Amino acid sequence: MTHLLATLSTGRAFLIGIAVGIGVLVLIGALGVGLRRSREAPKLDIPGAMRPGPSDADLEKPVLEKLIGWALVFTVFMALWVPVFNWLPETQNNLNDTKASLAESVLRGHETTLPGTQQNPLGFNCQRCHGQNLHGGFNVYNGTLVPVPNLQTVCGGAKYNHPLIKSLQDIIQTISEGRTGTDMPSWSVRFAGAMDDQQINDLVNYILSIQKVPTKDNVCLKA
Ligand code: HEC
Repeated sequence: MTHLLATLSTGRAFLIGIAVGIGVLVLIGALGVGLRRSREAPKLDIPGAMRPGPSDADLEKPVLEKLIGWALVFTVFMALWVPVFNWLPETQNNLNDTKASLAESVLRGHETTLPGTQQNPLGFNCQRCHGQNLHGGFNVYNGTLVPVPNLQTVCGGAKYNHPLIKSLQDIIQTISEGRTGTDMPSWSVRFAGAMDDQQINDLVNYILSIQKVPTKDNVCLKA
């Protein structure tokens, strides 16, 4: 027997297990039906709808009370269910939803900064100029090699080499409009770009998520 079991593959053993389980269930079912049959007194075969209804006395007391009892049970059940499973967790659910959609926005923003490929249709390749993870880079502009700002410190403003950034609004503005006279192009359809507001929003959420500046220097957090 041990030898036989040892030669069985796990898949086979699993199937045999299921077959035995089903067999046992069928057996228990058959026994149950058989037992009930033998105990029940023989009954006239009158359809339910043609049998006489309960008497007035029954309708007024036990039947009525039974219905009211069930009504009470279901009312209490609903009265507890709605607040406990819907109302009380609502704030937490909203918070989780907000966090989840922010995380998705950050992810889309990140993909937007990567090169556009078949696998990444969202890509607009910010990193070509701003470097990997927007850590700063170089670009050839009008024949000269120009440095391109590190966006991981962009919320630091002037103190971190971003003299034109005084608030989050300036970042949104720069991405949307571009910077005339530099190689930073316009990205928003509101100006000369191709991105809608959600794409810009995703980029901004991503840039906020990669900031390396301490909170006290972070101009993006100020109102
Ligand atoms: C062709 C090169 C190039 C590409 C592509 C590019 N940028 Fe820029 N970007 C620049 C340059 C150069 C500057 C600095 C302009 C200046 O001198 O004021 C800049 C500035 C910025 C600034 C302001 C930084 C500061 O210090 O003031 C932000 C924000 C920014 N870019 C975001 C983006 C985003 C987001 C993308 C992708 C959608 C992107 N850039 C794509 C070249 C580029």
